[in-house]
Amino acid sequence: MNVTMDVLVSLAKRRGFIFQSSEIYGGTGSCWDYGPLGVELKNNIKRVWWRDFVQQRDDMVGLDASILMHPTVWKASGHVDHFTDPMVDCRECKRRFRADKVDEMDWTHYCAATKGNKFTIKAGEPCKHCGERRTLCPECGKGVLTAPRQFNLMFKTFMGPVEEDAALTYLRPETAQGIFVNFDNVLQATRRKLPFGIAQIGKAFRNEITPGNFIFRSREFEQMEIEYFVNPNERLDGRPADEVWHDRWIDDCRAWFERYGLDPEHVTLHEHAGEELAHYSKRTVDLLYRFPMGWSELMGIANRTDFDLKQHAKFSGKSLTWFDEERKEHVVPYVIEPSAGVDRALLAFLLDAYREEQVRGEKRVVLRLHPELAPVKIAVLPLLKKRPEIVATCHELRARLARRWAALYDDTAAIGRLYRRQDEVGTPFCVTVDVKTVGDAEKREAGDGRVTIRDRDSMEQIRVPIADVETVVSRILDAGATWTEVAAGYPRAEG
Ligand code: GAP
Repeated sequence: MNVTMDVLVSLAKRRGFIFQSSEIYGGTGSCWDYGPLGVELKNNIKRVWWRDFVQQRDDMVGLDASILMHPTVWKASGHVDHFTDPMVDCRECKRRFRADKVDEMDWTHYCAATKGNKFTIKAGEPCKHCGERRTLCPECGKGVLTAPRQFNLMFKTFMGPVEEDAALTYLRPETAQGIFVNFDNVLQATRRKLPFGIAQIGKAFRNEITPGNFIFRSREFEQMEIEYFVNPNERLDGRPADEVWHDRWIDDCRAWFERYGLDPEHVTLHEHAGEELAHYSKRTVDLLYRFPMGWSELMGIANRTDFDLKQHAKFSGKSLTWFDEERKEHVVPYVIEPSAGVDRALLAFLLDAYREEQVRGEKRVVLRLHPELAPVKIAVLPLLKKRPEIVATCHELRARLARRWAALYDDTAAIGRLYRRQDEVGTPFCVTVDVKTVGDAEKREAGDGRVTIRDRDSMEQIRVPIADVETVVSRILDAGATWTEVAAGYPRAEG
């Protein structure tokens, strides 16, 4: 399904995934707030990433470093001198653009050949009336642009009560440096041998000149980063160990995104060519996803060599090495860095999950999110909210399920509508309590104690004893059984 960004942005706002930051004040440029469902989805992504890459591996440990660090960190890392984009300013409207992106923007033109009429012309194309190409500001079409100047993307702030240069520091533009400066602390505390990795999830801040495409490029975002330390003197399968580990991490990262739902056809690798390589990198491969605006970076996997540890050793005066007991030598490890953006991952998972289907002549919007990522796992719904026994049974069941999974109760619409709402936010299972479940005291009819469980993807429904609901859900969510396998053990319910 090729969903447009506009459709996704609208769904994200309407259903409480993502809101514009400070919207009632007109919004802040490219900052986003995650609503009730968004925060669940985001937490689920971070939780499964941490579980799969940290807790389930015996060569990984975690870290949570502070956002504000010693300012020399950013001098040593190269961010003070190199973390810049060339930018140009419009002398008329004062807007600022990335110099290397101006020619990729549609541009405003007041055409002399048509008595000064205003046109918006596609990026890179000339005016079809006068043949002119863009020379002025692409936005206002009037101002001359300044010559390019380097603009540092780090947000500055001041530590302590005085706003003076000595107190200047930065909001971290990546989580990676918190790992490098703690390399020796972690080594001493854990007595690890190479190879091993340190992972961190946390906020990063960049004063992007051209943020955009919703949460794809924002000024405040989250990263999930791993610095994997390898002995460069070792060989694996006849090759330098760092190169082998680099390939393994590329494969593992790609497999991880596909495991949680990205269509393999929507993911590809991009090898950085020589001039594209960062100054610290021996080799970098990006994982690209087919976003609505085209193939764009989802994450990067770089071989940062020993650049960072050597820089921090130089600037701090502390040795940042690992002692190889066998060879009796100090080694500065090479670093393989899988670095993913949480927000970009979330955007890709949402885009890939989005489907519009025709069901009995009506449009059904469904997010086919992986069950582990789905913000809500089970919705417990009453067929009749006027029947107190039905409602009480729902609340009791929801409370029981909520001890293990995100479960909600909703009675704000008729059942068909409630199903559609849950489909639209990706809830894998709906459980409905009806009159047959609880019986009818007035008619002296006993309930059968069974509820209907509906599967989001197939829309099939089965009739299950209330006591079995937890087991049914657990078999699928925790034990990896398929709906078809589990449903085979129960009678079908008619929808
Ligand atoms: N430590 C390496 C590093 O930070 P990067 O390619 O600049 O490398 C890694 O960033 C990932 O962080 C990107 O692949 C992307 O997923 C995410 N990211 C970077 N800048 C971002 C921004 N402005 N908004 C959202 N995500 C961003």
